[in-house]
Amino acid sequence: MTDLNDAAPDAPTGVDTEKPSAARMYDWYLGGTQNWAVDREFGKKVEQLFPLIKEVARQNRQFLGRVVKAALDAGIRQFLDIGSGVPTVGNVHEVVRDHLPAGERATVVYVDYEPVAAAHATLILEEHAATNWAGIVQEDLRNPERILRHETTRRLLDLGQPVCLLMIAVMHFVGDHDRPVDLIRHYQRKLAPGSWLALTHLACDDASEEDQAAVRRFADAYKNTSNPGWLRDRGEIEPWFGDWTMVEPGLTHLPDWRPDHELNAVELRARPFWWCGVAEKPAT
Ligand SMILES: C[S@@+](CC[C@H](N)C(=O)[O-])C[C@H]1O[C@@H](n2cnc3c(N)ncnc32)[C@H](O)[C@@H]1O
Repeated sequence: MTDLNDAAPDAPTGVDTEKPSAARMYDWYLGGTQNWAVDREFGKKVEQLFPLIKEVARQNRQFLGRVVKAALDAGIRQFLDIGSGVPTVGNVHEVVRDHLPAGERATVVYVDYEPVAAAHATLILEEHAATNWAGIVQEDLRNPERILRHETTRRLLDLGQPVCLLMIAVMHFVGDHDRPVDLIRHYQRKLAPGSWLALTHLACDDASEEDQAAVRRFADAYKNTSNPGWLRDRGEIEPWFGDWTMVEPGLTHLPDWRPDHELNAVELRARPFWWCGVAEKPAT
């Protein structure tokens, strides 16, 4: 765990062009265009501290695609993507659209508190003529009831049926002060048996000492953004899934979760910097 103050700031009230934002920087890492000069400058700075950051972001995005396909294959037809980010290649609704068996319906609710992410998600869903089965809620994940009771959520999700809850690369922006476990439990309680929780979290406890130092410098640099971050180790993240049943292969590094290709040298170097897992709510 870093020694950063343990409280994340309040949700942004508008587009902050002065401070870099995690949503827009992540877009820059992935080669997107929804970022400002302040994000790109900061991105270049942190890339010097942690040169694998773009690869690390790509691996996270690839996991997201694999897990959405796995949930569809398991019969889940509803997705709640919390901390969905600025839409970029391989958004959840696109994976769903491309992987869903013909003639079937699935729904997607995106949630992000960042105005650029929310505005761009609205645009892209309109462009893709997807607004009747996908929507965006601009809200802070620390307000679970506002998200779950939001009219868009109620329109698109039936909480009596299984939901795939995606918390991908977002919980490291929630400090201990905001009680991440209690927040996760809140969402878990509201979901039906058969639901999945898929979670990824930046980490470095399995990396070399040199790489750990680089990632810690990277995480410290985020103190100067709208989204300070927290590194956590395997022992802290594993209990977050609670009494839900871990889906095979359990808690792993991203490329080890149901890999779909052989790793190249860069992918292997970037392997230790996340923990990821999927768990299923058992029948009561
Ligand atoms: C690194 S991006 C991840 C995007 C996407 N989930 C993915 O993995 O490809 C993290 C996103 O979480 C959002 N975020 C951070 N803290 C949040 C909070 N408290 N409530 C809602 N969204 C949050 C940021 O705005 C950002 O868009």
